[in-house]
Order: sequence, then structure tokens, then C-alpha cells
Amino acid sequence: MIRTILTIPTLARYSAFSVCVLLSGVSAAAETTTMSAVELRQQALKHFAPLPHFKERYERQQADSHVHNNATLVHMGKVLFKDSLLSLRGKNNCRQCHRVMDDRAVSYTFPAFDVSGNGQPAPYNTPAIKNMALAKRFGWRGEHERLESFIAEHLLDENITGIPSEEAVIRRLDSNPSYDVAFTEAYRDDDPDQKGKVYITYDNTVRALAAYLRTAGSQDPFDDFLNGNDKALSKTQQQGLSLFMEKGCVTCHSGALLGTETVVNLGTADETQRFRAPSLRNVGLTSPYLHDGSVQRLDDAIRHRLEGGKASTLTEAEVRLIKSFLYGLTEQGQL
Ligand code: HEC
Ligand code: HEC
Repeated sequence: MIRTILTIPTLARYSAFSVCVLLSGVSAAAETTTMSAVELRQQALKHFAPLPHFKERYERQQADSHVHNNATLVHMGKVLFKDSLLSLRGKNNCRQCHRVMDDRAVSYTFPAFDVSGNGQPAPYNTPAIKNMALAKRFGWRGEHERLESFIAEHLLDENITGIPSEEAVIRRLDSNPSYDVAFTEAYRDDDPDQKGKVYITYDNTVRALAAYLRTAGSQDPFDDFLNGNDKALSKTQQQGLSLFMEKGCVTCHSGALLGTETVVNLGTADETQRFRAPSLRNVGLTSPYLHDGSVQRLDDAIRHRLEGGKASTLTEAEVRLIKSFLYGLTEQGQL
């Protein structure tokens, strides 16, 4: 056992001190059948990936947006995100549902509230919108594979903004002269030949919002662990991670976001009950849970019923371990 670990070449990177911790961890592990941190990391990297650091995220975002004047675009997205012109009655903005703190988008999710005023709140729980640059599918139903296409629909959703048409969005932005300046600034360089071109378009509005959202990301202890710090997750959290993989949670919750890739039927013949497995990053902060916000406690969300309505087979002790691991997905600082 010990020999196997020592032959792992990356071990050279660890200090003598952490080797000691590692080896003593191995002897303790013999009774509890827990893996060493190194083995666990190797397993985990088959299913997950660390989130990129800010700089890498930003570069990726620039490459994605295909727009010359990227900083202006991101700034404009941020302004739009807070602007209540983007709601029918001028009372709400994106940030009211997707609570974003300190401009670094620590999102808290709430059940969406009644935008239309007709007593009909949005039928879905509001997801956290961090790390959108890495999501594979958008919305609870997972119908959109591009952030832009999701936002384009969301912006005209009667339960979200209540604005009836693309033209109505443009008219609203036209009413504020500073948008004229900002849109021209952001998009002019990409298309210098077209004199008198109108830059305030629906697509350009959506692109700015998407560009801003792609800059909002997080870093948490799980990232540190995947990047090589054995002690970033406690022993309990490491056991939880191991169980998370063993119990098959990774079938649906994998990748850098531990979710957003698969869409599954929640166990009835009813095709309207198909949902995307959500990201579990920051899940310790995002109560209430599930598409309808029906679950308040993380323990209960972990026990959610899947696959033919069968309750998942987890003991109370296993739920506690997994929960402890999931708290390791909470970003550090900025709270
Ligand atoms: C009334 C509350 C509300 C407002 C206002 C609102 N949203 Fe949402 N948002 C939601 C809900 C609810 C969902 C889930 C909808 C669904 O899955 O169909 C969502 C989903 C999203 C998602 C997809 C997240 C994911 O995990 O896939 C993005 C991106 C998003 N909203 C961006 C915005 C932007 C940009 C604005 C401002 C134009 C905005 N939202 C305004 C409630 C709101
Ligand atoms: C077959 C795919 C699948 C598997 C396997 C699976 N999940 Fe999920 N998970 C989902 C879907 C889909 C949802 C959203 C369900 C809903 O909205 O009603 C979800 C929601 C969750 C949530 C709530 C997240 C939120 O923000 O609302 C948690 C926590 C969670 N799963 C943890 C787990 C754990 C722990 C395991 C392993 C024991 C697991 N899941 C196994 C598909 C899966």
C-alpha cells in the first residue's frame, strides 16, 4: 500500500511534513477502508475538474464573446443586470432574483416572486448563477446549450421580466442615452464600416448580459484539494467525496460544476418532469432546493428521490458525510 503511494511521481511535490500526514492517514485508513488523499484525488479527477482561477476565466470569456471591446461589454452587462428597465413595470431587475453580493455574484437563491402582479410567481426556484461560463445546459429543464439562447428567452418570459417583445426591450434601452454611448463603444470596433448602424439590438443586449455573467465564478476548498492540497478537505469531507462517487451521484453530478450536463426524468411517466441535474457548487448557500424550491434543508435535498421514485439508499451517517463534502463546495471569502 505504502509502496504504491510512494511510486506516484507527483509525491515529489509534497513537503516532508505532508508525506508524514499522508502516511499516518494511510495506517488509520486500513480499518476504515478510506482511501489516501492521493488515491482519492486520482479517482476524483476522473469525474471532476477544478474551477479555473479568475485570470483564466476572464481570458476564456474574452475568447468566447468575439467582441473587440470586451471590458466595455462586461461593464455594460453589469449595468444591465441591475437595471429595472428590464422589467415590465420598471420595478425588478435581474439582481433581485439572482442575488449578487459585492458585485462578485455570490448568489443566494430564492423562489422567484410574482413579477406580473397577477398572483402567478415564476414556476421555478431561482438558480445561483455563478460559474455560468462552465455550464453545459441552462435552466431547470436544460433545454438550452448556450447561455445566450437561454437569456434571449428568459428576458421575454412573462414570469421573469414580463416584457412582451424584443422591440419593447430595445425601446426601453433607447430611452436611456447612456446606453447609446455604451453599446456603440462596445460593438463599434467589430464592425467599423457600417455607418449609422444601430448598436442597441436585442442580440447585443443578450451578449452583454452573457459576457458579464461569464466573468462571475468561484473558488472553494474542493478546488484546492483537486489542485493538490491534501488538507483542503477534512477527513470527513474526503469520506463524503468518496461516498459521492461510490453511490453513483457522479452519474449526474460530475464535471467542474458537479452538474448541468444531464437531464433526467424524475421517475414518473410524465415527460414534463424532466430536469437538469443542477450544479452543486455553492450548494451550501443556495437553499431552497430543487426546481420548485420545495426542499429547505440540504440533508433532504441529498435524499431526493430519483430513478423510478425509489428513495435513495443512504444511511443517516452517509447523508452526513456527503453533506460535509458538499460544504466543501462553498466558495471562500466574499460572504
Ligand atoms: C423573477 C425572478 C427572476 C428575474 C427578475 C430574473 N431571473 Fe433569471 N432565473 C429565474 C428563474 C426562476 C430561473 C430558472 C428558470 C428556468 O429554469 O426556466 C432563472 C434562470 C436564469 C439563468 C440560468 C441559470 C442556470 O443555472 O441555468 C440565467 C443565466 C439567468 N436566469 C439570468 C438572468 C438575467 C440575465 C436576468 C435579468 C435580465 C434574470 N435572470 C432575471 C428567476 C429570475
Ligand atoms: C439520475 C441523475 C441524478 C443522480 C444519480 C443524482 N442526482 Fe442529485 N439531482 C438530479 C436532478 C435532476 C436534480 C434536480 C431535481 C429537481 O429539481 O427536482 C438534483 C438535485 C440535487 C440537489 C439539489 C441541488 C439544488 O440546488 O437544488 C442535491 C443536493 C443533489 N441533487 C445531490 C445528489 C447526491 C448527493 C446524489 C447521490 C446520492 C445525487 N444527487 C444523485 C439528478 C441526479
